[in-house]
Amino acid sequence: MFDISIYDKMSLNDRYDTMLTSLEGLISGDESDLTKLCNAAALINALISDLNWCGFYIYSNNELVLGPFQGMPACTKIKVEAGVCGKAASTKETIVVEDVHSFEGHIACDSASNSELVVPIVKDDNLIGVLDLDSFKVGRFSNSEKIYLEKAVEVLNKYINWEHIISAF
Ligand code: SME
Repeated sequence: MFDISIYDKMSLNDRYDTMLTSLEGLISGDESDLTKLCNAAALINALISDLNWCGFYIYSNNELVLGPFQGMPACTKIKVEAGVCGKAASTKETIVVEDVHSFEGHIACDSASNSELVVPIVKDDNLIGVLDLDSFKVGRFSNSEKIYLEKAVEVLNKYINWEHIISAF
């Protein structure tokens, strides 16, 4: 059983440190890599407040293809360099967008989204995909959250065999 109430009284740093430990616990077992990615999306969505969408796009055949996520149905394919996800993928840099309505080329999958954070997933210099978080609040994502989500992607890189994920797309 997953009890989210244990996080309620924690400081932001304790909450995210515990999130990383919980993530490691969730994805270090012998479940399939797809199962692990599904649980990773659910954990991040549960522990980061004010999200309306959280999930993965996987790089396949020169585009980003929708992977495990939590939230409303979303665009299934995004060209690399298109939108916030494509920009993070092509630059291999995390992008924090304070107000998506001011980001040229932003792709609106859920009209509730007002800010966005996209972390590229890169292993051995190869683009694997992106972790995408959307919030209904403008300016939702702080620099410390950006750093914690980059650490979450490091945990994913440690435990997920991406070849098993990519071959499913
Ligand atoms: N807003 C993203 C598209 C994906 S959805 O937010 C789920 C973008 O501009 O790339």
